[in-house]
Amino acid sequence: MSNSFDPIVTGRLTLRRLESGDSEKVFGYRSMPEVTRYQSWEPESAAEISCFIEGLKAIGPDTPGEWYQLGIVLNETGELTGDCGIRVSSADPSQAEVGITVSPPFQRRGLGAEALTAVLDVLFARLGKHRVYGSVDPRNTASLALLRRVGMRQEAHFVESLRFKGEWADDVICAMLRREWSERKGARR
Ligand SMILES: CC(C)(COP(=O)(O)OP(=O)(O)OC[C@H]1O[C@@H](n2cnc3c(N)ncnc32)[C@H](O)[C@@H]1OP(=O)(O)O)[C@@H](O)C(=O)NCCC(=O)NCCS
Repeated sequence: MSNSFDPIVTGRLTLRRLESGDSEKVFGYRSMPEVTRYQSWEPESAAEISCFIEGLKAIGPDTPGEWYQLGIVLNETGELTGDCGIRVSSADPSQAEVGITVSPPFQRRGLGAEALTAVLDVLFARLGKHRVYGSVDPRNTASLALLRRVGMRQEAHFVESLRFKGEWADDVICAMLRREWSERKGARR
């Protein structure tokens, strides 16, 4: 299995491997309460992020069971504006989960949708996945809107199925199949 990753370039963004020099920046937005509210990863220091980034060198986007995190960089300025994670299922490597974070000053400009659309293209076209899904707390309205915006379908709403940050939380699953992605691509042409 290859650990190499060719960056993805879109109109405004480049999605590339996170590098050790990104850790302070990633810690900057990943330690904001509004960013961590619905995320299980709450890094305590830039050093913890640096360690995580170092660990990414041993894996690739198609490594089952591991979160592979890409940096989302603004082409115009070279600034890191967020990160997007891919986790291929170890039970069935033809399926993958995605997660995304956009730094608050860059939110609501369509960057999350642009990045996630590109990641879906890679997962279906480059890595040949059958199904890609996202798991979201329904109180996270921004995340739910984003998953719907990129064309995912809501397929489950589990009620108080997760013990999360000291309380029971609902879990909504949104997904897209390869054939739905193909139809959507066809419709956009
Ligand atoms: C979820 C998140 C990545 C969205 O990123 P973004 O770049 O702001 O998203 P976009 O600008 O591409 O918007 C995508 C859709 O979400 C909607 N949206 C974005 N922020 C929203 C908000 N705060 N409230 C309601 N809807 C919102 C947009 O209106 C758009 O929907 P539309 O096309 O129907 O109008 C961002 O809010 C974030 O990083 N949140 C914190 C981390 C997190 O919880 N991540 C999800 C865990 S998987």
